[in-house]
Amino acid sequence: MTRKDIPLPQPQMEVLFTPGDIQSAIARLAQEIRQDYRDKNPVLLGVLKGCFVFMSDLVRALDMPLEIEFMSVSSYGPGRTESSGEIRVVQGLRGTIRDRHVLVVEDIVDTGITVDFVLRYLRRRRPASVRVCALFDKAARHRVDVPIDYLGFSIPDRFVVGYGLDFDERFRYLPGLYCLKEDD
Ligand code: PRP
Repeated sequence: MTRKDIPLPQPQMEVLFTPGDIQSAIARLAQEIRQDYRDKNPVLLGVLKGCFVFMSDLVRALDMPLEIEFMSVSSYGPGRTESSGEIRVVQGLRGTIRDRHVLVVEDIVDTGITVDFVLRYLRRRRPASVRVCALFDKAARHRVDVPIDYLGFSIPDRFVVGYGLDFDERFRYLPGLYCLKEDD
């Protein structure tokens, strides 16, 4: 089956986490992050595109003073379900993060190569601190050691879509997290 043959959307998918599961995890993460950053006016740095849904729910759950930045990197080319291992900066930081407390917001850590790259990129800009918040983590797939300071869910090694995550730019709008079934 080629990627364009996958029907939209639900019959070929299994639910991993419902929208309710995800919102509960975000409430827990927000509580942890609020305790650590309440008086720090942190910079939440989203790694586009996948983070956009998580970021918007997380900042509203945090409900505290913070700033938002985005950068855009890409490692999965069109139609790929695996990281190419080569990261491109599509859009770097616009503002300075020097002496700021930065929290990287990622939808998913898979091989860890993206977060590792982003952490190196940020540390060269001399922030006061950098930590990582990821909603999903596929620990079995890590190819580099990455610290995840705030984690929503550990997930199995399945290709997942929804809640901002795509397959060839599709399915980002789905409100839960779904596995794509491999064969029918
Ligand atoms: C996805 C995801 C992470 C990265 C994780 O981004 O949003 O940034 O892959 O994979 P890794 O741990 O193996 O590096 P992707 O490159 O697919 O771009 P997108 O966010 O625009 O979908």
